[in-house]
Amino acid sequence: MELVATRNKGAEDVLPSESYIWQNTERLMADTAKTYGFREIRFPTFEKTELFIRSVGETTDVVQKEMWTVKGRESTYTLRPEGTAGAIRAVLQNGLLNEAMPQKIYYQISAFRHENVQKGRLWEFHQFGAEMVGSAAPAADAQIIQMAGDILNKLGISTELHINSIGCKQCRTKYYEALRAYFAPDKEKLCETCQSRFEKNPMRLLDCKSEICKGIAANAPIITDYLCDECAEHFAKVKALLESLGIEYTVDPRIVRGLDYYTRTVFEFISRDIGAQATVCGGGRYDGLIEEMGGPSTPALGFAMGMERLILAMKAKENGSSDSVCDLYIVAADSDSTGGKALEATVRTASAARAKGKWAEYDLCGRGFKAQMKYANKIGAKYLVVIGESELESGTVRVKNMATGEESETALDAVADVIG
Ligand code: HAM
Repeated sequence: MELVATRNKGAEDVLPSESYIWQNTERLMADTAKTYGFREIRFPTFEKTELFIRSVGETTDVVQKEMWTVKGRESTYTLRPEGTAGAIRAVLQNGLLNEAMPQKIYYQISAFRHENVQKGRLWEFHQFGAEMVGSAAPAADAQIIQMAGDILNKLGISTELHINSIGCKQCRTKYYEALRAYFAPDKEKLCETCQSRFEKNPMRLLDCKSEICKGIAANAPIITDYLCDECAEHFAKVKALLESLGIEYTVDPRIVRGLDYYTRTVFEFISRDIGAQATVCGGGRYDGLIEEMGGPSTPALGFAMGMERLILAMKAKENGSSDSVCDLYIVAADSDSTGGKALEATVRTASAARAKGKWAEYDLCGRGFKAQMKYANKIGAKYLVVIGESELESGTVRVKNMATGEESETALDAVADVIG
């Protein structure tokens, strides 16, 4: 019979032996975001396809090639390829723009892109993202970049920060003309998708994944030479603030990002430890997106980190935090004379330990005395207690510290207090 229990390509399982790394990482991110005033937002896995076309942009690879789209009865829906569109849709729809500005939100989500699967590039992946809505100030750009860097540092991941400014609509008009003039002689050699982007959105020609297009784009004009005065001043202030915070960066005029909503500051954190898919975090400003979605003109910015890539980087550095282990294993040593009373006392003692937040275990597989001792060792239990006839009679037990071998005598109902 065909095995139906096979995982799909481009998706991963996280097993109990590794899920603690995810939990600790997610907790650290949420705790750090909180210190900057960000609170969690949750929103659906799918949205109307139109939302992503309007926000991510119809000439992007994400929209043209990578969306997982389902035709429903009422509309066409897409599994979110990223978080910004859905998060901002939720902000708008729920009236958060009427609250005190800036609004600061974060999310931990799964996202879906139909890409060529490889290490660090999946069909279903996970992001930690943060968005700040309502501030046009360069200090907001610096804060967003600082928070991303703070999280990466706390995770022990070494990264390089690359920043750029891709200007506003006004600077782009001149820049697009320069790009078209540059690409025009080689237009026929570009891939089909890039040929169709030539008129509509020539900046997209700069982040095509085809080697031929990459080669042609190598000496293309750079946006930083075309910034208007306001955008240039904004970028200068962001850089000055980063310097005053001691945050090292490289200006990389080739960063254009793969999503259309960006304006002005864009950035990426690159890890040197995880191979080709090295961008662990990407983000930037998107001052036109909220208006594009039908809301009032409102500046905004944010970033997202790829969880799988972060965890690869943490493993490469061997600095995943440690998992918790069983605090207390209780061996129930029932005999004919105890008639099941040892198991009853064991169950009660485990409950008392759990009520104090301890991880307590006892046998559920019919193991004998020796096999239970062996099992306690195997799972690395910190403390061991045996409850048998004499313990039931005296109401006391010996609590054994499995690491040191030390034992102490304790009242049965006080075990939870002595296992520290
Ligand atoms: P993005 O650069 O498309 O930006 O994705 C952010 C991060 O998600 C990437 O740097 C990468 O670590 C991870 N990632 C993307 N695609 C995949 C994939 N197929 N497999 C594994 N990891 C992946 C955004 O998504 C924007 N929404 C970020 C943002 C928020 N900008 C402003 N606010």
